[in-house]
Amino acid sequence: MRKKIIAGNWKMNKTPSQAAELINELKDSINKEDVDVVFCVPFVDLACAFDMLKDSGISVGAQNVYFEDNGAFTGEISAKMLSEIGVRYVIIGHSERRSLFGETDEMINKKLLKVIANDIIPILCVGESLEQREDGVTLDFIRIQVKKAFKNISDEDAKKVVVAYEPIWAIGTGKTATSEQAQEVCKGIRQVISEIYDENVANDIRIQYGGSVKEANAKEIFEMPDIDGALVGGASLSSEFIGIVNYK
Ligand code: PGA
Repeated sequence: MRKKIIAGNWKMNKTPSQAAELINELKDSINKEDVDVVFCVPFVDLACAFDMLKDSGISVGAQNVYFEDNGAFTGEISAKMLSEIGVRYVIIGHSERRSLFGETDEMINKKLLKVIANDIIPILCVGESLEQREDGVTLDFIRIQVKKAFKNISDEDAKKVVVAYEPIWAIGTGKTATSEQAQEVCKGIRQVISEIYDENVANDIRIQYGGSVKEANAKEIFEMPDIDGALVGGASLSSEFIGIVNYK
C-alpha cells in the first residue's frame, strides 16, 4: 500500500509573517495519520516553517534547487544547502520553471540526481500542454519527460521519487482534469516506470495529480487506483487545504 502524499506548492506567495499566519491557521486541523503532508514554501519562509512545524508531523519542502554543489551561480541554492537546514522535499521541473525559466529535461535530470544524493525527496513534475492533449500526444510526450528525468537513476533511488502529473492546461485555471483523465495518465506513468525499471519500482513509486485540486474534487481524485495524492497550488494558500488533506 502506498501512503498518500499531499503537498502544498505555495509558489511565490507569502512573506515570512504571512507564512506564519497561514501555518497557524492550518497546522492543527490537518490529518497527518495516513497521509504525508508537505508545505513547499518560498526559500525565505523556510526558517519560519521549520520553526512552526517542528513536532507537527508536517514536512517542509522547497520549490526549486540548483544542480551544482557551490560556485559562481549567483542567486541559486544547492541541494546541500537545503539538506543541511533539514529540507525533506523539493519540487523539481514544475511547468512554470520549464516555461518561464528555461528548465530543460537535462537540467531536471541533473537536479534529480543531485537532490537524491543529498537525501532529499524530489517531487518531479511532468505534464502536457493543451495543444499536446488536443493533438492526442499526451502519453507519448509524458513518456519522454519521464524517461529523460529518470536517466541514470538507480532502482533504489527511483522508488524515492514522487512524480506529480500536472497537465499545464489545468494549472491555476480552475479547469481540473477529470479523475478519469488524471488516472489514465498516472497509470501511463506507472507503466513507463515499470518499463524503465520493473513492477516492483512501479508499484512503490508515488504519483500525484496536480492542477486545480480543490476540496470539492479531492476525494474523487484520491480514490483513483494510480493516484497517490496531490500537488496543490492555489488551494494550499487557505483553509481549503485542510479540506483537501482531510478528504475522507
Ligand atoms: P493549482 O497549481 O492547484 O493552483 O492549479 C498546481 C501547481 O502548479 O502545482
